[in-house]
Amino acid sequence: MPNPSELALNRRDLMVVAGACAALPAMGASAHAQPAPVGAPVLHDVSFEVNGRRHALSIDTRTTLLDALREHLHLTGTKKGCDHGQCGACTVIVDGQRINSCLTLAVMHQNASVTTIEGLGTADKLHPMQAAFVRHDGFQCGYCTPGQICSGVAMFDEIRAGIPSHVTADLTAAVVASETEIRERMSGNICRCGAYSNIVEAMVEIGGRQG
Ligand code: FES
Ligand code: FES
Repeated sequence: MPNPSELALNRRDLMVVAGACAALPAMGASAHAQPAPVGAPVLHDVSFEVNGRRHALSIDTRTTLLDALREHLHLTGTKKGCDHGQCGACTVIVDGQRINSCLTLAVMHQNASVTTIEGLGTADKLHPMQAAFVRHDGFQCGYCTPGQICSGVAMFDEIRAGIPSHVTADLTAAVVASETEIRERMSGNICRCGAYSNIVEAMVEIGGRQG
């Protein structure tokens, strides 16, 4: 049976060893971690249309479409939320399809036609979807709103084209812009203010009659 002084020594030794072990990964990391070498940016020419205007850019190939719109063309209506394809704030319409502009590189869109919130309506002549959002209080802070509206506009095009969703019950009938369909199809657009019920009301109101 060890006496108490031996036990105390063992505990001290144990603590010294434990402390040394805890420090090892950090020492190893600092000894080996070197910043990855950063090469000079590779520039590439790309030309596309945004809201009906042609733009030609010579751009770092790593630039996302979102950053090209915001930082190079100064179209800041398109918002950066998560920058990881999870919130929908950056939704724009490219060649008729809604996409998360944070998940695609600008150089992939040579000759594409891009529509952002700035191209849908103006303060004097709102797009019907924008007017419906105003009527139904479809926003609070407004940060998600450009993405919601671009997404909603393209969503109705998908419904009119007869493209079914996960909740479409009858695949042989025309798709109806029901509240259930809208909620499902808009599930990629997050609203941190929780204005969902008003957003859906606005979309149900204009479903099938937007310009
Ligand atoms: Fe693109 Fe969130 S910023 S999905
Ligand atoms: Fe604030 Fe949607 S209105 S995030």
